Amino acid sequence: MTTQIRDLDHYKELYRQSVESPEQFWDKEAKTFTWFKAYDEVCTWDFEKPAVKWFLNGKMNITYNCIDRHLADKADQVAILWEPNDPKDEAVRYTYQELHDEVCKCANGLKALGIEKGDRVVFYMPMVAELAIAVLACARIGAVHSVVFAGFSAQALADRVDDAKAKMIICSDFNKRGAKNIAVKEVVDQAMNIGCKSVETVLVHQNTGAEVTWNTEKDKWWHKEINHQSTICAPEEMDAEDMLFILYTSGSTGKPKGVVHTCGGYMVYTCFTFKNVFQYQPGDIYWCTADIGWITGHSYIVYGPLLAGATTLMFEGVPTFPDAGRFWEICEKHKVNQFYTAPTAIRALMACGDDIPNKYDLSSIKVLGSVGEPINEEAWHWYDKKIGKGNAPIVDTWWQTETGGIMITPLPGITDTKPTFASYPMPGIQAVLVNSEGQELKENNVEGLLCIKHPWPSILRTTYGDHERCRQVYFSPFKGMYFTGDGARRDEDGRIRVIGRVDDVINVSGHRMGTAEVENAINEHPQVIESAVVGYPHEIKGQGIYAYVISQGKALDDAFRKEISDVVRREIGPIAKPDKIQFVTGLPKTRSGKIMRRILRKIASNDAANLGDVSTLLNPDVVEELKKSALV
Ligand code: WT7
Repeated sequence: MTTQIRDLDHYKELYRQSVESPEQFWDKEAKTFTWFKAYDEVCTWDFEKPAVKWFLNGKMNITYNCIDRHLADKADQVAILWEPNDPKDEAVRYTYQELHDEVCKCANGLKALGIEKGDRVVFYMPMVAELAIAVLACARIGAVHSVVFAGFSAQALADRVDDAKAKMIICSDFNKRGAKNIAVKEVVDQAMNIGCKSVETVLVHQNTGAEVTWNTEKDKWWHKEINHQSTICAPEEMDAEDMLFILYTSGSTGKPKGVVHTCGGYMVYTCFTFKNVFQYQPGDIYWCTADIGWITGHSYIVYGPLLAGATTLMFEGVPTFPDAGRFWEICEKHKVNQFYTAPTAIRALMACGDDIPNKYDLSSIKVLGSVGEPINEEAWHWYDKKIGKGNAPIVDTWWQTETGGIMITPLPGITDTKPTFASYPMPGIQAVLVNSEGQELKENNVEGLLCIKHPWPSILRTTYGDHERCRQVYFSPFKGMYFTGDGARRDEDGRIRVIGRVDDVINVSGHRMGTAEVENAINEHPQVIESAVVGYPHEIKGQGIYAYVISQGKALDDAFRKEISDVVRREIGPIAKPDKIQFVTGLPKTRSGKIMRRILRKIASNDAANLGDVSTLLNPDVVEELKKSALV
């Protein structure tokens, strides 16, 4: 087992070691796992190329470490505790032995369907236990999983399948979300019509049993292909640097990129961070409310907890069904000890009033986690007082899809907490602030761009099929450093507060979105000539989506706004729909034709009084028009 940090001195000592001799530090942690063949070097790296390798030539399988190695002493302990959408239905428990058997059956089924090591398998599934099982089954046989959040549109799904050249899609028939039944298979059918030429098989898990259209050539039922398979499947011997998964995420330009994580480093880092950030103790029930379609679900519902031999709760439903007490009801019912959610959920539930959480016994909660976006002070205090009753430290965890695991966070009971501060870097993480010239700002009480100096085991290795993009986005802005895209402040005691993105990426309800992506979708409407999208402060979502649209030959009314929203829903999914659409005749541009987003952001944020100098614009007059018709 990876080291469990005991107290502040222990943290400081480990941090010091991890900076002075990172290789020795991670070698010690890595040695606590089962390797089929020992690695012969801990780390080689070159951020110029970039080329980062951890645990070179080591052979392993992450599922052996997640499951098999726990069978000796935890075969009957619950690994996955699955809570259904409808509280009237029974929770389902998978012990480590049962999880082993289900994963092996699924792995054998995938093999029988022609999936081999290195093949890509795309998932489009609700939060059913079979999603976790099949993800692990891929890892067991060396197939590369790429989970697509089931709220994305058919077009977005097809784009990802095509980029990954996936051989299989695994989906459900329907997705139970609150009172709704969402036709998941139908979206996959549409995606198959738009693209997905590489897909040979669509494996369909029967979730509700309602009728679906069937393509007899490619569609296969899960229960027919998997249920009869053997419960034994030897884990594939993987190189530490073999690909484990691709996860698509948005950037400031172009299409979403496929972030690539590899087996060995990801294993070591997610286990180490899980154990320490949540101070997990044997017997604890840990719950992360994320969806496995995002990195949080990968690292802290599936891999981290299972690697640490924990009991991980997986919830199918939504926080507001049958009412806004659902999260707290589940905490009470299962005596949840660590609860990890997003600020947007905290704010939404806070708005429903204190009476709701007050009805439940939340005394089992020892640690509260926050992730995905900056948590505002009000939400932090509410979470602390009303949910944690002042007894459960809040770990405000900063990290990214690209980092694979938690990077900056308080450690509960070990380091102090301060509202809105992600606080201190994990051992092994050399977080620095730089100015726009790339000079490191060493003093405290400064604001700058957040970079990381030395590789950590779960740093992204590439962006799938486009290594140059990976270099340009993360490694070329500042020489010798990984650039996060975030701005941050360091207080007088060295705690870090992550303020938010400094690029054209916005964070809507913890969902990361590129403004360019949303603009491209809006521009698909035939009557839209040009558009510009910015984020603005939104009480519940953190940031809302504000779109400026230039159009021709259309009445500028709500019916048109709805058409634009529908196009965005079709191209990306409902999560990307603009909250506000302002029709304009022009956009503020520099002499070289670049849109001045700074001005658009200020107007959308109701801060038009502080626009600064606009006289250098190509079309300064347009600013007055934008201000006059602003939707604020
Ligand atoms: C971006 C990464 C990390 C898993 C979920 C999101 C923002 C994330 C925090 C936090 C302030 C945060 C950053 C980051 N972010 N956590 N605790 N405080 N900002 O992963 O979709 O890759 O988004 O989310 O801006 O760059 P992601």
